[in-house]
Amino acid sequence: MTWFTSPDDAAARLRGAGYLPDSATALTAFLAGALEKPVLIEGPAGVGKTELAKSVARATGADLVRLQCYEGLDEARALYEWNYKKQLLRIQAAGDQAWEETHDDIFSEEFLLTRPLLTAIRREEPTVLLIDEVDKADVEVEGLLLEVLSDFQVTIPELGTVTAARRPFVVLTSNATRELSEAVKRRCLHLHLDYPDPERETEIVTAQVPELEDGIGAQLVEVVARLRELDLKKAPSIAESVDWARTLIALHVDDLDAETISATLGVVLKHSSDRERAVKELRLSRAVRPGLP
Ligand SMILES: Nc1ncnc2c1ncn2[C@@H]1O[C@H](COP(=O)(O)OP(=O)(O)OP(=O)(O)O)[C@@H](O)[C@H]1O
Ligand SMILES: [Mg+2]
Repeated sequence: MTWFTSPDDAAARLRGAGYLPDSATALTAFLAGALEKPVLIEGPAGVGKTELAKSVARATGADLVRLQCYEGLDEARALYEWNYKKQLLRIQAAGDQAWEETHDDIFSEEFLLTRPLLTAIRREEPTVLLIDEVDKADVEVEGLLLEVLSDFQVTIPELGTVTAARRPFVVLTSNATRELSEAVKRRCLHLHLDYPDPERETEIVTAQVPELEDGIGAQLVEVVARLRELDLKKAPSIAESVDWARTLIALHVDDLDAETISATLGVVLKHSSDRERAVKELRLSRAVRPGLP
């Protein structure tokens, strides 16, 4: 299957699926499909890492298989496990059947519980495999990923090696809370996502909140950009810009003055110390928007 025919095709189809990519993102999406290489997306929270994988699936009509990583994620949750309960019942029911026969029986397909990595490898329909927040998993999980990422196969000792019938489009995301192993990095294309420029962010926000007038959308994005320059605990992401736009619509606000900003700042900044800092700094500086009181 060809995922995308060119970077322009990737850009157009991602847009069609509601994702507004920059040129590096469209290029990487095209290459990942053309070279059948996994993409590793790094960047701060809320810049569209997870959404890109979902959008590739929507844009191409593929199904999304998601492995959410967390501390303690193990092989049994990521790859497969045997259905012990069912195996036990079969052993009990076997009576005096020869053990070899029972053994072969209970380590067969019928007793296998497949988890996302194996599911994605075995699917015959087009599949996007999202391995989300891979930096949250323990380092050992990367060992499991290597076989999947480089050979698109999984080895199950009792059943043999399962090779992908059709290679999935693989997306890994990371907030870079720790460095990933060289071996994993080497196998991936890299994409760094960051906060978009004001034009693209305005476009993203108005696409998701069409009721928002262009003028106030641009104002909002400008204030958010200023907030990101402050040294905050948690800088506002695109998701916060969108939430803020929805808030302004709900409140029937049509001008983003200082009073409205401070009254609704809780939508954008989630730490009270960040809000205090923002109120102080935005008022100190009149550069947010001419005419601020
Ligand atoms: N390029 C884009 N086009 C359209 N919407 C976008 C884009 N980038 C981000 N968004 C919006 O921002 C929201 C947050 O994005 P997403 O959940 O993908 O962030 P993330 O980078 O995975 O963050 P985290 O690291 O917290 O998981 C999405 O639900 C989407 O609405
Ligand atoms: Mg995410």
